[in-house]
Amino acid sequence: MADLASEETAVPAAEGAPVEAAAPPDASRLHREVDRRRTFGIISHPDAGKTTLTEQLLLLGGAIHLAGDVRARKTGRHAASDWMAIEKERGISVTSSVMRFAFKGCEMNLLDTPGHEDFSEDTYRVLTAVDSALMVIDAVNGVESRTRQLMDVCRLRDTPILTFINKLDREGLEPLDLLADIEESLKIEAVPVTWPVGYGSRLRGIYHIPAKAFIPYTYHELLDPIPLSGLDDPRFDELAGPLAARVRGELELLEGAGSAFDLGAYRAGKQTPVFFGSAIRGFGVRELLATFADVAPPPQPRATTTRTVSPYEAGFTGIVFKIQANMDPAHRDRMAFVRVCSGRFERGLKVRHPRNGRELRLANATAFMAQDREGVEEAFAGDIIGVPNHGTLRIGDTLTEKETLQFTGVPSFAPEHFRRVRIENALRAKQLEKGLLHLTEEGAIQLLRPLVGNDYVLAAVGLLQFDVIKARLENEYHVEVTLDALPYEVARWVDADDAATLERFTRMETNRLARDAHGDLVVLGESVWWLQHFASRWEGVTFRATREYA
Ligand code: G4P
Repeated sequence: MADLASEETAVPAAEGAPVEAAAPPDASRLHREVDRRRTFGIISHPDAGKTTLTEQLLLLGGAIHLAGDVRARKTGRHAASDWMAIEKERGISVTSSVMRFAFKGCEMNLLDTPGHEDFSEDTYRVLTAVDSALMVIDAVNGVESRTRQLMDVCRLRDTPILTFINKLDREGLEPLDLLADIEESLKIEAVPVTWPVGYGSRLRGIYHIPAKAFIPYTYHELLDPIPLSGLDDPRFDELAGPLAARVRGELELLEGAGSAFDLGAYRAGKQTPVFFGSAIRGFGVRELLATFADVAPPPQPRATTTRTVSPYEAGFTGIVFKIQANMDPAHRDRMAFVRVCSGRFERGLKVRHPRNGRELRLANATAFMAQDREGVEEAFAGDIIGVPNHGTLRIGDTLTEKETLQFTGVPSFAPEHFRRVRIENALRAKQLEKGLLHLTEEGAIQLLRPLVGNDYVLAAVGLLQFDVIKARLENEYHVEVTLDALPYEVARWVDADDAATLERFTRMETNRLARDAHGDLVVLGESVWWLQHFASRWEGVTFRATREYA
């Protein structure tokens, strides 16, 4: 079991990992490099403070030098194309990216999980490429709907989650109530590591439970932790003032309930260690990140259709989890984001692309590097590399150095919004088909063909994708379309125990069935409630909310 009370946890060591001397890529170096990777994403409801926390993490890791950089970057880039103008106009980032920083000897890969109107299937899928997650909860609002949805995705792989309860500088819910809310709404045991001493204008600081240290809060500066002998230390009374008795009472209650950090339970996704703080003041974030570096899992083994691949295997393997269109619409280049699953990548590496049986030279691939890091471009299991291509690579594709393998676990997610595509000029039908196929291959939106009629139906997890695809069809394929709303809110992939059942189901329910781009059958429904009722009528038929690419 990891010791959360280690001195390192309470008082983080000097930030930034030492730069490795150039060494041959021997097995022990591979092992060391893989071990210090932490690949994670942040899950939160919009406005809980994900961007603000991200900035603070990047500040602590030395990747930015001023809070506000991330937001500025979000709004100040991409003049290149019209569809990116949507992004600029709304001041959000449509597509996710990789942020790299170093902390306490660890190489952190923070994968952005788009969360406002830019919420899409990408957000869900990014979570299948991480080894752990940070969950941000607004202390004023408690657990909110989007967090619940994202938590469901984390649960698919029992992803370990650390929780940060944000906005302690505001009058929030009682800390004990917040823990109860997490446990009830998210069905995960919540164990505090830090505990608030006061709230809002009466915020005095936080108490680091395992380290037995008090971290005082001031508006203007971050102060060092003050070591105590425990909550009974008379200094605690001085520091906490009239709140001391209350905090003692709360923590006694928790201790009585028997909740204690358990590395195994955390790593199995059954327990979440909880931290309190204020991201905007950078308060409590250092403690969160220090524990994260200590306990978050390094790259984990991943399943393929034939065997499990260990991240420490020497041969390079990777999986495409995201495709992003090039910023320049004149070139239909795409960037494939590949999570390295094992071994080591080096620029120019030759890999096999089992889906089309070809060899691919990763000559232009880029590794996302921590700031100020120079030297060979290399990446290890846990890292993300970007591979530019013209459509060869698709989401779910596996790349391997030697053996033919197909990773599983990067699924499609059932869409929640549906639009029928209506073309303005029927003479452009061919271009429309081509455009729809290309654009939907990027994976942020799905293309469905109802069994009845000739319609194209676009189906997405987030609404902004419709605006994006409409704009891109116009700009890149010169096709004007109107998107008509359809009365559906839920879709499920359908499978049956036997061919006869499937045939009968397809015949009787034709009107609400469609095929996806892979030819798989999808049922469309008006609501989750409707679906439950519908499913109960069809014995022997399975309805799935995710679909594996493999
Ligand atoms: P998001 O990425 O999860 O959507 O949230 P973001 O970080 O953008 O934060 C949402 C709002 O909450 C922002 O306010 C931000 O300043 C505020 N916020 C974040 N952390 C804290 C905190 O610890 N305490 C308090 N009081 N507020 C916090 P905004 O008004 O929408 O934007 P801005 O005017 O501050 O830029």
